[in-house]
Amino acid sequence: MTFPVLTSRKILLIVGGGIAAYKALELVRLLKKAGAEVRAVLTEGGAAFVTPLSLAALTGHPVRMGLFLPDEETTMGHIELSRWADLVVVAPATAGLIGKAANGLADDLASTTLLATDKRVLLAPAMNVRMWQHPAVQANVARLQGFGDLHGMAVVGPDDGEMACGEFGPGRMAEPAAILTAIEDLLEDTVAVGQVARPLAGRHAVVTAGPTFEPIDPVRGLTNRSSGKQGYAIAAALAARGATVTLVSGPTGLPAPAGVTRLEVETALQMQAATGAALPADIAVLSAAVADWRVDTVAGGKIKKAPGGPPTLSLIENPDILAGIAAPGPMRPALVIGFAAETTDLEANARAKLSRKGCDWIVGNDVSADVFGADGNTVLLVSAGGAEAWPRLSKTEVASRLADRIAEHFVPKA
Ligand code: CTP
Repeated sequence: MTFPVLTSRKILLIVGGGIAAYKALELVRLLKKAGAEVRAVLTEGGAAFVTPLSLAALTGHPVRMGLFLPDEETTMGHIELSRWADLVVVAPATAGLIGKAANGLADDLASTTLLATDKRVLLAPAMNVRMWQHPAVQANVARLQGFGDLHGMAVVGPDDGEMACGEFGPGRMAEPAAILTAIEDLLEDTVAVGQVARPLAGRHAVVTAGPTFEPIDPVRGLTNRSSGKQGYAIAAALAARGATVTLVSGPTGLPAPAGVTRLEVETALQMQAATGAALPADIAVLSAAVADWRVDTVAGGKIKKAPGGPPTLSLIENPDILAGIAAPGPMRPALVIGFAAETTDLEANARAKLSRKGCDWIVGNDVSADVFGADGNTVLLVSAGGAEAWPRLSKTEVASRLADRIAEHFVPKA
């Protein structure tokens, strides 16, 4: 795969102090291979994990480490450095760096650079799972993302998996290839935002994402393995193209994308109500994995084991949110897009869903392979006019393409 968007682009890489710092070296290699120019800032913590010499050798430039070092300041002052870049990438972004940036603190070169830059910033967080899940870190990330078009920071990862500390869960830094894709997308968006005057400005998009959770009793419920990543990426891509975005999200644990209004719901009924209340909208992208059924009577107390054996759950069908939104009427969005998660006969099933649900496009999703929670996705875009197979792309790339298609639908290319 080539990344022409990276040719001659200037990337300032801030390497924070974490075991994932070793992956920053691979990121530099990938960026250089793609034609980018890279300069690195290494924090004191970062230098405990990778050497300035490795970074200097890979970037081909001296590595910056201190704030008030005359030698370093004479080559390129820290303000100049933060302006030199087309994009600033923090990988790994530690809880400490994120906390400083979220609160406007500047007491070393990395944090000063983050405050002084006038460019987009991409964070690749990496930390222990409990640290990542701590409300303080989540609040800091959400705050950084919400600073608006100019100062809002983008986030890639963290991934789920086993951590160096032996615990399991979200916190591992995104793989260098995924960071590279996120960099490419951000640079593309920056170009699109700067030059094309935000093609979806003035449009309202409602996006549903994530699973729903249908309670059985106060401690148990029915849900599914949707991560919400694809829907969140679509919400972010539409917002980057100027749309006003309402994201109706089931439980995901993902931070809200920059500039997006998120309504958090749990059940299908709540999702239906929140989606309906968000109308009118020009665009509806319903990517949520809505549970097909819920129990007809939720037990008020925890259901106990009983000698008679396990309880029988009586299920009733949830409303079809997509079919409801796509039904003809004054509130129907001009463009209604649904998803079809299929393990077999993708095109036939997607087509059947298109007509059964009355939507305009279906993003057919091949879930026979590794999709849930993964960063990649293989989709088929189906409309009344035909079907278009996309190669396997990252979820961010799928979102970018879909958002571009949506923008073209409203403002056809000359
Ligand atoms: N959908 C919805 N409300 C539901 C079920 C699904 O809005 N109660 C939407 C999903 O958000 C998605 C599309 O319908 O955009 C298709 O979802 P999918 O789970 O693939 O289809 P189902 O209708 O559940 O059909 P089946 O389970 O038979 O494949």
